[in-house]
Parts: sequence; C-alpha cells; structure tokens
Amino acid sequence: MASEAYLAFERADELVASQIAAELERNSWSVIRSGGDTSDSDAALSQTIGNASVVICLASAAADASTTLPREIAAALNNGRPIVTAKLGDLTAGSWIEATLDLSRAIDLSNGLNPEQLGQIAEAARMANGQGRVIAMLNIKGGVGKTVLAANLFAAAHLADKRSVSFIDLDPQHNLTQYFLAPAERHRLRDSNHTLYGVLTSRGDASLPRGEFEAISVPLNRAKRAGKMPNFDLIAGDERLFEYTLDTRSDRDKAEAFTRFRALIAALRARSEIVVIDSNPCATFLTRLAITTADHIIAPVRPEKYSLTGLNMLEHVVREVRGRPLRPSEFSVLLNGVNDRTRSSETGNADALTREEISSAPFFGAALLPDEVPYSAVLRSPPTDRLAANPINITAMMRVGGRPAKESLARAAAGILRRASE
Ligand SMILES: Nc1ncnc2c1ncn2[C@@H]1O[C@H](COP(=O)(O)OP(=O)(O)OP(=O)(O)O)[C@@H](O)[C@H]1O
Ligand SMILES: [Mg+2]
Repeated sequence: MASEAYLAFERADELVASQIAAELERNSWSVIRSGGDTSDSDAALSQTIGNASVVICLASAAADASTTLPREIAAALNNGRPIVTAKLGDLTAGSWIEATLDLSRAIDLSNGLNPEQLGQIAEAARMANGQGRVIAMLNIKGGVGKTVLAANLFAAAHLADKRSVSFIDLDPQHNLTQYFLAPAERHRLRDSNHTLYGVLTSRGDASLPRGEFEAISVPLNRAKRAGKMPNFDLIAGDERLFEYTLDTRSDRDKAEAFTRFRALIAALRARSEIVVIDSNPCATFLTRLAITTADHIIAPVRPEKYSLTGLNMLEHVVREVRGRPLRPSEFSVLLNGVNDRTRSSETGNADALTREEISSAPFFGAALLPDEVPYSAVLRSPPTDRLAANPINITAMMRVGGRPAKESLARAAAGILRRASE
C-alpha cells in the first residue's frame, strides 16, 4: 500500500499544491489534498491525518488567514505526524504558523517553484517517513515497570538485534537516568543543562541552543568494541522537569517546549531506529508530549487488581489528546512480573485473572502481547557496583543468571518492534 501524504494548503495556493501533489505521486505517494475547505469534524480530521505518514504544510499569507489550516495542523501535531513545511512567501506579522511550526528547515518557495525544490519536498517527505519509530512507555498507574522495562526491553533489542536506540527520560523523577548513570555523571549533566530540561526550556540560562539537542545524548554502551555497534544512548532527565507538570509554566513556555521537544524527536529519529520515551505515571503536559509524538505506546501492567483501570484511563487520555480513538496496532499491553514466587500462593491465580480480564476487554484484548515478562531478580534492582564503568552492563541481558527473563525480554522486544513497524 502506498504511504499517504496529507497536503494542507489554502485555496489561493492551489496551483503550487497541485504541482507538489503531482511530484509526490510520481514518487509513489498517495496524496490527500485539503484545499482549505474541509468540512470534516475535528474527529474525522484527526482520523484522516492520524493515518497519514507525513503532512506537507504550505505556509503563506493566505494560510495565515485560513480557518481550516490551524485545525489541520493541530490534528497533525496532536497525532505526532512529521510536518514538512514549504514557505511560499512572507507570513503576516504575528503569524500563527511561525508561532506553531519550526520554520528553520522550511523549504523556501518564495521565488517560485522549480524542479529542484520539488525534489527537496519529495526527499523531505521520504526522510520523514523512513525514520525511526517513537515508542512511549505509558501507564497512568505507577510502579508497573515502565522504567525497568524501557531499559531492559530495548537493551535486548540493541544486543540481540543490533538496533540503534535513543532513550528520552521525560519523568521528573528521572528514574531511567538514575538507573543507568552514577550520581557524579548525573550532576554534571544537570549542572550543564545537558538534560531534557535544557531542551524544553526556551529562555534563560538553562535553555539549550537548538543546534546542541543531539549532542547532549549520553552513550550507554561504552564497551571498546561498542564503536562498531549501533548507538545506544540517553537524553537524561532531571527533577526540574516537574515545572512542566504544574501550572507554573505559561502557555507560551509550554508551546515553545512542545516545538523544541518535536525538534529533539526529529533529530533522534533521524539517527536511531527506536526512540524510547519513559514517562511519568499521570496525565500532565509531559504525558501530552509523549502521547503526541509516539508512533506506538507500550503499557506494562502488573498481575493485580485494578490493572484495567489504569489502562482504561490511559486509553481515555490518549483519545482526548489525539482527538480520535487509539487503533489496536498503535498500542501494546505487556504483562509484567508473572510467576512471582515471592508473593503468596495466590500469585498464579492473579496472573491468570489479570490475563483473562485484559484479553476479554473489548479494546485491550487485541493489544495484549503473547509474551510476558516474569518476575525476576535481574529486573528487581540494578547492581550498583557496576554502575560507573559501562551503563549497559546493569541491564538484565548483561547479567549472570535470569535466563527466563532474558529470553522473554528478547521475545517481547521483537514482538513490540514488529507491531510498531506495522
Ligand atoms: N519483572 C520484574 N521483576 C522484578 N521486579 C520488577 C519487575 N518489573 C519491575 N520491577 C521492579 O518494580 C519496581 C517498579 O518498577 P519501575 O520503576 O520500572 O515502574 P514504573 O512504572 O516506571 O514506576 P513509576 O510509575 O514510578 O515511574 C522497581 O523496583 C523494579 O525494579
Ligand atoms: Mg518510572
């Protein structure tokens, strides 16, 4: 099936839009054109745009005055679609396009459209489509294994399948950063604002220039022969991220943080097959960043009562943020901590009950992964003495013992990546 490109433009720019559509079709895209007069409801628009692999936005003075284009771009942003912008001329003062989109990489068509620029647009669309997948670990319920599984599932994908992986620690508690890095290194990163906080913050001393976003990722596989391996790295978090969970940040700060976060995601997607976001267990602005940029969501659940409540809430939050229901293919539920012998003899029962409850639930049944992760000492706690030398050594795959856990992590990771690339 041809990938879909959604072309968002105002009717005044129709001529240019037709030429771009023809070029994209020559490059095997199936093109959906808006033409500035869509009467679709927001939900229908989110549905259509959520299905597109890329959105091409024609930015112009006419587009600035449009009433439909802002809805289309909002749907694209809420659904994490990559946006390629072509600028047809000067925008109006106080332009919403300028305030909403990162125009530093916009393709400039102000002097007309020539074959070279048409080629650039097709190439930008191809690049945006062919890049890494963004996977978010999410559950409104806390303590279900989001962080530990983020580290260990994707260490398995890196070690067993040679996948390149970039982590982003979006949780103010920054447990993923603590999991991998020793205190001295964490403090150094924090003090130089080489953390996600520096990325999100657009003004003041803590703000990181955009050109440095990629450079702040910390390698987590430091073995000598790791030079030959694909990258495995982390954008660290720190506790100051909490500012974005409260009302202390203005709407303008949050809008800028959103644009800067998208720029970080674009840079990481360009170099890693998998970008993994670990997030906080609630629904805040930070959760919104994860939901809007994720191609695939993984919700770990523990075999216990009320696990379906957390999932139901998560589905609700995602629907609210994206403006459309989740598709089962965008979502995996991973049962974590089965066969826990440290618990009472009822554990086996709890495993079966939870499995049964989720698999018979209307939506989640289709998302439940066949592979489960057992309760295991190699996942319970990292061995602190090996922290400093090479972070990847603390992951289950590198540790002695824990064979069932290792096998199930590698299987679950492969299953998730298959689903995420559908
Ligand atoms: N399969 C497992 N076997 C043993 N221990 C586990 C397993 N999965 C998670 N744990 C342990 O459970 C605790 C909670 O896990 P983790 O911190 O990953 O959850 P979380 O969902 O990220 O929590 P939070 O919502 O606070 O971010 C940790 O101590 C972790 O080591
Ligand atoms: Mg966590």
